[in-house]
Amino acid sequence: MKKFLFEFVTVFFLYIGAILEAQQPSNNLSRPEIDALNQRCYNNKAENWDRFPFGSILPKIILKYYPSELGSKALDIGSGTGILAHWLKQQGLSILCLDPSKEMVRRCREKGLATVQISIQEFQTNEKFALVFAMLSLIHVPKLEFSPQIKKIAALLLPQGIFFLGLIEGNGEGIAEQKSQYPRYFSYYTKEEVLNVIENNFKVVEYIRLEGPPNYLIFVLANNYGKP
Ligand SMILES: C[S@@+](CC[C@H](N)C(=O)[O-])C[C@H]1O[C@@H](n2cnc3c(N)ncnc32)[C@H](O)[C@@H]1O
Repeated sequence: MKKFLFEFVTVFFLYIGAILEAQQPSNNLSRPEIDALNQRCYNNKAENWDRFPFGSILPKIILKYYPSELGSKALDIGSGTGILAHWLKQQGLSILCLDPSKEMVRRCREKGLATVQISIQEFQTNEKFALVFAMLSLIHVPKLEFSPQIKKIAALLLPQGIFFLGLIEGNGEGIAEQKSQYPRYFSYYTKEEVLNVIENNFKVVEYIRLEGPPNYLIFVLANNYGKP
């Protein structure tokens, strides 16, 4: 009887431990630790992102899906060096950039872009946008926070507003580029995982998979707020 009780208690605590562990980001890093790691890289190696993201396809699909009837307000989450935002401004959009890296913010402001130094998780506003961009920035959000951030982005958009989302294909999350001087924390996604998370808030209007490595997933999503 004693042996049975001992085994039962051990299995019970192992089970509880497994549940708690599944709710932590892998590597047991807290969000401030993840953000600090990523910002160390972006503050020191910002010039690596001095290029138009997905330059061969993104401008075309932005112009194709831009809902001009919704006005000109756009938000760029994780705007990096501001090259995409600068181009959007040249197209006549009124663009707000946000990025937690001080060097990225400096580079955006140098281009004359309105920029807030903040992460998407901390960002608060009552403004609504016709367009939201998150090109390779939600890849740095722990996976447990992905779904709440998607809901938050849906709420930032006007009804029928468009969300351009760029992610890296894969499974799981954790620190990568360990051998480099500036490792980063990444969250990877499969197409199915993304579709499950977005289904209540967005309709997919275009999906593109770019072969790598790494493989990139680009989603053009219409906010279905107000639609049955
Ligand atoms: C791979 S770079 C991409 C930059 C730009 N979107 C582009 O495609 O060129 C990722 C950017 O996301 C920013 N970032 C990291 N964590 C973030 C977070 N939690 N919220 C918003 N931006 C974040 C980084 O500082 C960095 O500028």
